[in-house]
Amino acid sequence: MKTNPPQTRDGFGSGLGALAALVGSAVGLGNIWKFPYLTGENGGAAFVLTYLVCVILVGIPVMVAEHAIGRRMRQNAVQAYGGVVPGQKFWSAIGISGLLAAVLIMAFYSDVAGWVFAYVFKSGWAAFGGPALTPDTFGAIAGGTIEPLAWQFGVLALTTTIIVAGVSKGIERVTKILMPLLLGLLLLSALRALTLPGAWAGVEYLFRLDFTKIGPAVLLSALGLAFFKLSLGMGTMTTYGSYLPDKTRIVPNAARVALADTLVSLLAGLAIFPAVFAFGGQPAGGPGLLFNTIPLIFGQMPGGAWFTVLFFVLAAVATVGAMASLFEVPVAWLVEKKKMTRLMAALTTGGTMFALGILATLSPFFFNLFDFTSSNVLLPLGGLAIIIVAGWLMPKGGLADELGKGGAGTRWDSQLVPVFVKFITPVLVLLILLNSLGLVKF
Ligand code: TRP
Repeated sequence: MKTNPPQTRDGFGSGLGALAALVGSAVGLGNIWKFPYLTGENGGAAFVLTYLVCVILVGIPVMVAEHAIGRRMRQNAVQAYGGVVPGQKFWSAIGISGLLAAVLIMAFYSDVAGWVFAYVFKSGWAAFGGPALTPDTFGAIAGGTIEPLAWQFGVLALTTTIIVAGVSKGIERVTKILMPLLLGLLLLSALRALTLPGAWAGVEYLFRLDFTKIGPAVLLSALGLAFFKLSLGMGTMTTYGSYLPDKTRIVPNAARVALADTLVSLLAGLAIFPAVFAFGGQPAGGPGLLFNTIPLIFGQMPGGAWFTVLFFVLAAVATVGAMASLFEVPVAWLVEKKKMTRLMAALTTGGTMFALGILATLSPFFFNLFDFTSSNVLLPLGGLAIIIVAGWLMPKGGLADELGKGGAGTRWDSQLVPVFVKFITPVLVLLILLNSLGLVKF
């Protein structure tokens, strides 16, 4: 196998910088918006447990595989997969399917991002004495026509500008500083919510198991969320892997990313569900759960209106970081492969995303279709192909060799983990996919 020399390419300067960038890509609306709303729709603790199992048995191994392939090839995802198995160029299809996934994800992600930006302004207005944030505020923004489209257009225009200006690195730096602040604010929200009367029901909802609630749909949603959350199955993590220094031990690094990301999600859950129960709301509140609950949590605190503003500002920053990483996938491909200028590539990408985004914003059917197709179909299928390539098809010793770097030697990194990559993870993904189609029952 050909491994390109790293000297000519940009890379993460330090191990800690790499970790921060990886966490920066993983943490986003997935933690504060999608995790709570899917948990609520799928009945609570059983979903949370299934999700955690998916993160450990599927998410970490797939991330390890992507990082190993990326670092081995030191190339963009489409070309990395095209060259990783000698004589089998067709694996570049993984990268192509990743382009489609990126556009589909952004079509609905930019809609939700638009709600977040709208809430920055609406919560600010409320703090200055304007109308308070109520479920009607959310209903108007999510169910409207011109207003959500305008916010979505603004969000996509902002991201396009950031990509054209090439300041993604700057965004990453800002994200790195504001992320701990978001974490602190989530912690505060959780403490506040947990001390509300009746909050305990929310904790039980999150952690008290009822195995009868685990069915094929719950399994598939949990699997899809594990991929979506950790930015897996479409080449983002392969690209990031191509920037990893050789001294990084891939396995513990991936485990740390997954742990940090999962902590943020659980903290968001511990803020939202206790509050939902304390205020007598519905856990299955759908996509509006975050937007309707946060103002309630801070509502009765001194200075609470300003904490609400701060929360949505920080959420907006995390969202822009995640969107920039999703944008970059098609843009890099259009520039490198289709020889477009960066401006044309960004406009083409942004335009396509907005065209599909209009459908997602105006019709819940398309919103759910894009969400389902990307998270529950394209990402798991991409992940399955990636893990088969890494476990079975990479030239002999390739995976173990990559995992043994950075002082890992012949420890469990390069011995135990390949067993997961080869056997456990692909079988599990396949079983969940077949189960959801009704072809396998358990
Ligand atoms: N992981 C991010 C979130 O949870 C979203 C995201 C960014 C993503 N890049 C990705 C999802 C690549 C899938 C693939 O909000």
